[in-house]
Amino acid sequence: MANQGYTLLCLLVNFLNFLTRTEFDIFGHCNSPVTLSRRSFPKDFIFGTSSSAYQYEGATNEDGRGPSIWDIFAHDFSDRIADGSNGDVAEEFYHRYEDDVKVMKNLGFDAFRFSISWTRVLPSGKLSGGVNLKGINYYNNLINELLSNGLEPFVTLLQFDPPQALEDEYGGFRTVRDGVPIGPVAASSWLYVYPRGIQDVLLYLKSEYNNPLVYITENGMDDYNNETLPLQKALNDSMRIDYYHRHLWFLYKAIGDGANVKGYFAWSFLDNYEWGSGYTVRFGINFVDYSDGLKRYLKNSAKWFQNFLHT
Ligand SMILES: *[C@@H]1O[C@H](CO)[C@@H](O)[C@H](O)[C@H]1NC(C)=O
Ligand SMILES: *[C@@H]1O[C@H](CO)[C@@H](O)[C@H](O)[C@H]1NC(C)=O
Repeated sequence: MANQGYTLLCLLVNFLNFLTRTEFDIFGHCNSPVTLSRRSFPKDFIFGTSSSAYQYEGATNEDGRGPSIWDIFAHDFSDRIADGSNGDVAEEFYHRYEDDVKVMKNLGFDAFRFSISWTRVLPSGKLSGGVNLKGINYYNNLINELLSNGLEPFVTLLQFDPPQALEDEYGGFRTVRDGVPIGPVAASSWLYVYPRGIQDVLLYLKSEYNNPLVYITENGMDDYNNETLPLQKALNDSMRIDYYHRHLWFLYKAIGDGANVKGYFAWSFLDNYEWGSGYTVRFGINFVDYSDGLKRYLKNSAKWFQNFLHT
């Protein structure tokens, strides 16, 4: 009986959502199948996590790497970074990738997205200045480590112009042009949470751009790096679980409506250097303890993904 009442309530909620094109909060328990998991998605669908070179690697002065615009910017204009920090050390992924890849594998991910630090490969910024073999070797080793753990490497080439990046962070996204922000705001003041948007934009692409092949290479939310919060509380990131659950649900619906999406990458695998926000916000599904040797801990959202991917 309780179940029938619940089903009726859900029907009503869905109907109201349909009429008003809104999304009631009750949705998390109602509108989504309890069993949403990897198996709800096409067999060849790829689930991964993502990273980027400067935000992760650290080791900026090692093995022949040259300075990038972000090294210069973060050092010379540290007043433009919320905590005055830089990516000199970051998550030290450069030295720790082997252990990190093991965690990705254990969590059940299929792929990992990273970017290549140009100045690790071309230290002077030009081919004529010579190729840095140690840089090439690092990316080769990372790719081999991923492959031997059954993870597919996805590489994106990021070219970041600092003034523009900051403008985006502090200007462009804060006020949404031609519209009003909807949904609660995350720690980054420009980041509004509106899970249904992922379905809307995918169906828009489908109808307006002839259903192109899409990989979602970043999706995630941050929270404040509250340094006085006890570790056990910081690991209990219920909001992030809710965020992923809802986005994956609307992604699932978009695929059901024919959107040609083949992969989804959670941003981010680790807490990391968030450009102008420095280390003041945390985007990871894994926690990085900046006050204890960059030790990594699974947040509950990482365990949630593990369960999602293994069931
Ligand atoms: C940070 O965590 C402490 C301890 O739980 C809490 O008292 C405080 O309100 C938190 N600060 C913010 C800004 O959330
Ligand atoms: C995690 O947080 C949620 C709400 O944010 C709370 O209901 C739950 O009890 C917490 N779990 C633990 C183990 O602290």
